[in-house]
Amino acid sequence: MKMLNVALPKGRLGEKVYEQFAAAGFECPSIKENNRKLIFENEECGVRYFWAKPSDVAIYVERGAADIGVCGKDILLEYSPDVYELYDLDIGKCRMAVAAKKGFTDDRERTLKVATKFTNIAKNYYDSLGRDIDIIHLNGSIEIAPILGLSDVIVDIVETGTTLKENDLEVVETIVPISARLIANKASFKFKSELVEKIIRSMENNND
Ligand code: PRP
Repeated sequence: MKMLNVALPKGRLGEKVYEQFAAAGFECPSIKENNRKLIFENEECGVRYFWAKPSDVAIYVERGAADIGVCGKDILLEYSPDVYELYDLDIGKCRMAVAAKKGFTDDRERTLKVATKFTNIAKNYYDSLGRDIDIIHLNGSIEIAPILGLSDVIVDIVETGTTLKENDLEVVETIVPISARLIANKASFKFKSELVEKIIRSMENNND
């Protein structure tokens, strides 16, 4: 039997995602072994899981190296991969937001300096407002940019709000809510739609 290749986001979210697949009848006990392996399969269920960097999941799925995968809506909005977005797992919930130093007010006469990992989301958001910005692309620890004067604001993921709070920053505006989404390669979905739909139906039932 041909295996269903599933890209899971490595990390905390990935473990929760795996639990949803397991509860849907696609267990793979070896994945729980504490080792550095990245690929696990259960031939009986016909499933092969692999841990990918969350921001890479959509690349594996778009190119068909994975039939399906799970990644955050942030990744889908930022990279617009050519995949089907099929199901909201309702986990990994957070929001994409603009944040700044406490008390910040926007001077619309000046170009706004925006530091972010999510360049496209930030551009689209400020385009929709007709606001001129200067984008500064960073790879992490975005919160330090406004503190050190590198930027006026940041566009970043806010989950509990603790990181902002502990760095004396606050949310200025929410751009969009985020959660984990099940995505499928377009060709895989054509040929394996029954199996993929079965997984989604089981997840839906378990989440009711
Ligand atoms: C994200 C984000 C914030 C933090 C927000 O970073 O960039 O730094 O989580 O969470 P909070 O509101 O609960 O404090 P992540 O941990 O994903 O790491 P990263 O900085 O490498 O993106």
